[in-house]
Amino acid sequence: MRILLLTHSFNSLTQRLFAELKADGHELSVEFDIADRVAEEAVELFRPDLILAPFLKRAVPESIWSRHLTLIVHPGIVGDRGPSALDWAIMNGETEWGVTVLQAEAEMDAGPVWACVRFPMRAATKASLYRNEVTTAALQAVRAAIQHVPDWRAGEWAPITLAEIRQVAPVQGWEEPKAYPATRASGGARHADMAGCAALLPPYDRAFVCGKLGLERPLMKRADRVIDWTRDNTQTVLQKLRAADGFPGVADALFGTPCSLFDAHPATPEELRPAQPGEVIARRDNALLRATIDGAVWIGHVKRADGDHRFKLPATAAFAAEAAALPELAVPLHREASDLRWSELRYRESPDGTTGFLAFDFYNGAMATDQCQRLTAAIEYARSRPTRVLVLEGGRDFWSNGIHLNRIEAAASPADESWANINAMNDVCLALLTLTDRVTVAALRGNAGAGGCFLALAADYVWARDGIVMNPHYKNMGNLFGSEYWTYLLPRRVGPEAGRRIMGNRLPLLARDARAASLVDATFSADLPTFEMEIARHATALAADPAFAERITAKAARRAADEAEKPLAAYSEEELAALRRNFYGFDPSYHVARYHFVMKSPQSWTPRHLARHRDLGWRVPFSR
Ligand code: COA
Repeated sequence: MRILLLTHSFNSLTQRLFAELKADGHELSVEFDIADRVAEEAVELFRPDLILAPFLKRAVPESIWSRHLTLIVHPGIVGDRGPSALDWAIMNGETEWGVTVLQAEAEMDAGPVWACVRFPMRAATKASLYRNEVTTAALQAVRAAIQHVPDWRAGEWAPITLAEIRQVAPVQGWEEPKAYPATRASGGARHADMAGCAALLPPYDRAFVCGKLGLERPLMKRADRVIDWTRDNTQTVLQKLRAADGFPGVADALFGTPCSLFDAHPATPEELRPAQPGEVIARRDNALLRATIDGAVWIGHVKRADGDHRFKLPATAAFAAEAAALPELAVPLHREASDLRWSELRYRESPDGTTGFLAFDFYNGAMATDQCQRLTAAIEYARSRPTRVLVLEGGRDFWSNGIHLNRIEAAASPADESWANINAMNDVCLALLTLTDRVTVAALRGNAGAGGCFLALAADYVWARDGIVMNPHYKNMGNLFGSEYWTYLLPRRVGPEAGRRIMGNRLPLLARDARAASLVDATFSADLPTFEMEIARHATALAADPAFAERITAKAARRAADEAEKPLAAYSEEELAALRRNFYGFDPSYHVARYHFVMKSPQSWTPRHLARHRDLGWRVPFSR
């Protein structure tokens, strides 16, 4: 099928759908939803069999949905409508939620239902739920919907309208769809689908469906999210912050300055200090500890409403002077998983002591200079431990996304900070590359982008969770050359020709495709807890390998041979020379691209590598 993705941006969900549907054999092209006329032109050029809208901020124009099959991915259960679906689900403490694929019609989110998939809710931020549960469910629902398209075209299958659901739900209940009166010739087929849909709805939805089906829930407003520090307990504070993360945050104030809060983590009882609710009492890493009426929360990121830097920054960077005056509540790097004290870095070891696990859960996978320095120090600590294998776990949602573009944007000299950051990033790579007395494994639990991908290649093995997406290229950031020893690491793994192709194509790669391209050595379960167990098992097996000593000897020999052929320092010097031009040269593309990325400037055109229908070639085969 020819599928046009009409989307607000090429976000993680859209990237995943793009890559998976392409792997399913469909022909994909992307158009950003910028203006009706532009979207209409894209449809004219591409002549899609299906228009899929995974992430829209406004309604699809009638000129499109009335003439072409257009399916919308809505991050809510059947009957849920409105632009704040997940926000309300978190705020209302729903225990189950879902994704519905609806046909676009005049009323937003009220079209006939093509498919729906449910998932259990997790105590996590909206962004994390979106990147994980919603994305997985959306892919399932989209695939189910696509399967119906041929039958729908043949008139042998029809989606279920909300009016029909409303009619059947109170009468028969969801478990007895067979009694549903057939209103079309293809009733049998639609009953089966109705049963599928019904089975996907949790029991409480019956009441919901009866009473409120199709009622639009309004955009969640600033006032709905406000925290009352004198009344809200920790649970409520966390719920409000999670429902607003990564966007728009909770409007609040710190040190008397209005700002939006993000990235909250509960404090443990031993971290509490006597304090007034709302008072900021300590700092750790880049976060501030703020008291609630019955505990405290760590606030990792804020967006100030004043000054020049009105974008998300680590709390201690946005309020540098105030934070510096607070006591630091340090926590040991080496602590068991059962120790619930939050911090960005955690090192632990397997029960038999043979394997170390280093997690670096940096918000959004962005790694600023100080974070890179702390990570390098943590790798040095791991080096001092008598283990045989070191697993680099990265973060839960992102393994790493490379240098911290927001911190760079906020620096007095973005060029100098870019330089410092990339050098600190290279130090992390170097610490890994020179860890020749043990085996290293990059375990990609979450997505990796740009420098983060190449950092992973500095490990001996790259193991990825099935379904994660990698973006192993720098060019989208204003033609950035990139460093992280990629000129050594990429050809070493995939060969020079494939390396050039990967860097040039600027597209997301699924873990499976990355494995086929030899960027990744193995993929394991898509389910995170299962993935983590598999990683632990395989890492321990590596450590117990009778040939371990030979493996280490071979590793050290290869590193020595590579070094003799061309020292690592030579690779980084060459890369840094090119980067120096990006940072300090006359072409400001990188600075411009970074500014727009950080400021989230609206897109004014779809990049050519995504809008394939705008390649001249498309006009020929499809101009019918
Ligand atoms: N620095 C700062 N913030 C970053 C970041 C980076 N390197 N990479 C991602 N982020 C932030 C995004 O701004 C976004 O912030 P938000 O929470 O305020 O919305 C969040 O992480 C999620 O990113 P998003 O773009 O929505 O994720 P995605 O999965 O859709 O896309 C990437 C992933 C990697 C393609 C995309 O984030 C990207 O291009 N990042 C920049 C990578 C880069 O050029 N790094 C520098 C060179 S090493």
